[in-house]
Amino acid sequence: MKILLVGSGGREHALAWKIAQSRRVTALYCAPGNAGIEQLARCVPIDAEDLAGLKALARAERIDLTVVGPEAPLALGIADEFRRAKLRIFGPTRAAAQVESSKSFAKDLMLRHRIPTAAARSFDALKPCLGYLDRQPLPVVVKADGLAQGKGVVVANTLEDARRAATEMLEKKSFGQAGERVVIEEFLEGEELTVMAFTDGKTVVPMLPAQDHKRVGDGDTGPNTGGMGAYAPAPIGTPALRTAILHKVLQPIVEALSRAGSPFHGVLYAGLMIVKGKPYVLEFNARCGDPETQVILPLLKTDLVDVMEAVVEHRLDQLQVEWDERAAVCVVLTSTGYPGAYTTGAQIAGLSDLNLTEDVLLFHAGTKRQGDQVITAGGRVLGVTGLGSTLAGAREQAYRATRAIAFQGCTCRSDIASRALQSGA
Ligand code: AMP
Ligand code: GLY
Repeated sequence: MKILLVGSGGREHALAWKIAQSRRVTALYCAPGNAGIEQLARCVPIDAEDLAGLKALARAERIDLTVVGPEAPLALGIADEFRRAKLRIFGPTRAAAQVESSKSFAKDLMLRHRIPTAAARSFDALKPCLGYLDRQPLPVVVKADGLAQGKGVVVANTLEDARRAATEMLEKKSFGQAGERVVIEEFLEGEELTVMAFTDGKTVVPMLPAQDHKRVGDGDTGPNTGGMGAYAPAPIGTPALRTAILHKVLQPIVEALSRAGSPFHGVLYAGLMIVKGKPYVLEFNARCGDPETQVILPLLKTDLVDVMEAVVEHRLDQLQVEWDERAAVCVVLTSTGYPGAYTTGAQIAGLSDLNLTEDVLLFHAGTKRQGDQVITAGGRVLGVTGLGSTLAGAREQAYRATRAIAFQGCTCRSDIASRALQSGA
C-alpha cells in the first residue's frame, strides 16, 4: 500500500513513524516533510496547502491513501477535492472541518445539541463587542473565530486587555480573516484535557487522554503557543470521566455533524476543561493534536494504517484498538522568541549522538537539511518523547535526551507533566 502524508511538523513526523511501522505499507511519501521525516519517507517539495499539486502527486504515484496532518488543507477542502477525484483520503471534508475552522460554527452546534461548553457570543463588529465586554465578569476569553495556529485566544484578566484583544482582531485585523469574527467566551476554571478520537462518522473510538501545555512559560505563564509539551495517559482522565466525554461530547458532536449532512471522518480532537469533575469543550480540532500525537501514537499498539482504513471504509465498529500500558512525555524544543518572532537557520548539534532507544523518540518539527547539517526552520523545532512504566520515568527519559541537543536559542519548558506528578500520579 502506498501512502502520502501531508504536512511537515512534529505531529507529521510521529504519524510517519507510526505509518512506517505498518506491515501493509510498501511506500511512504510526505509533502513537504522535514529533516526527520526524510529518514522515513520520500519527501516531495509540495506545500500542504497546494491542493492541485498534492492531487497530481497522488495520481502520478498511484497513492492508495492520503493522510492529512494539519488543519489548513482540511479547511481548504482537500478531502472534498480528493474524494471528487476518487482518491482515498483520511481526513474530514471542509464542511465537517468547520468544527475547527470556525469557532462560532462549533459553538452553535454545541449549543443546539447541548454539548457542555463555555457560554459565548460572536461578534462581527467592534462596537457591540466592546459594549458586551463591558458587562462581562473577569477574566473573560477573547477568541478569533478562524484558524490562528493556537495563538488566536486571549484570556484577559482586565477589561482593558479584553478590549485591546477584540480591537486588534476586529479592527486592526491582527489575525487577518480569522479575526473578522470574534467569539467572547466565559472563563472556565479547571484542568485541561485533550481527548482525540478516531471516527468514521458513526463509531467513535477515543484515544488515551492527554494533556498539552499551551502557555510558553513554566507554571503556565506567558502567551499561548501551538503546544510546548504533552503527556499521556493523563491521570485526571479517569475511566468515569472518559465515559462521560464519550457520551456527552464525542458521540453527540459526531452525530450532530452526521445529521447536519457533514459526517466527520478522521481524527476529532476535543480540547476540554474539566470543571469539578465535569467536561466542558474549549475547542474542537479536525485533526490530530500537536504535540499530543507525539505521546499518543507511541502508545498505540494497533497498526495505524488498519485504523485509518477502517475509518475510510466506515467499518471502525469491527476493529479492536489497543493501547500500551506505559506512559509517554514529550518535551518540545523551540527557538527563542516563539510564539512571537524568532530566528531560524541555527545548526542543531547532538542529533547524531542522541541515544535513541526504545524509550526515547525524536520527532522533528521545524527542521531542514542543509548539506550534511540539520538546521532550525520553525518556532517549534523538535519534540523529544520519553516512554516509561511511570510518568516520572517517561519524563526523566525525555529530559535526559533534551540535554544532549543544542542549537542557538534553544528553549523548552522544564515542567512538562509536573502537574500530574504533583498530584501523585
Ligand atoms: P482554544 O484554542 O480555544 O483551545 O484556546 C486555547 C487555550 O486558551 C486553551 O487551551 C485554554 O488554556 C485557554 N482557554 C480557551 N478558552 C477558555 C475558557 N473558556 N476558559 C478558560 N481558558 C480558556
Ligand atoms: N495541541 C493543540 C493543537 O494541536 O491544536
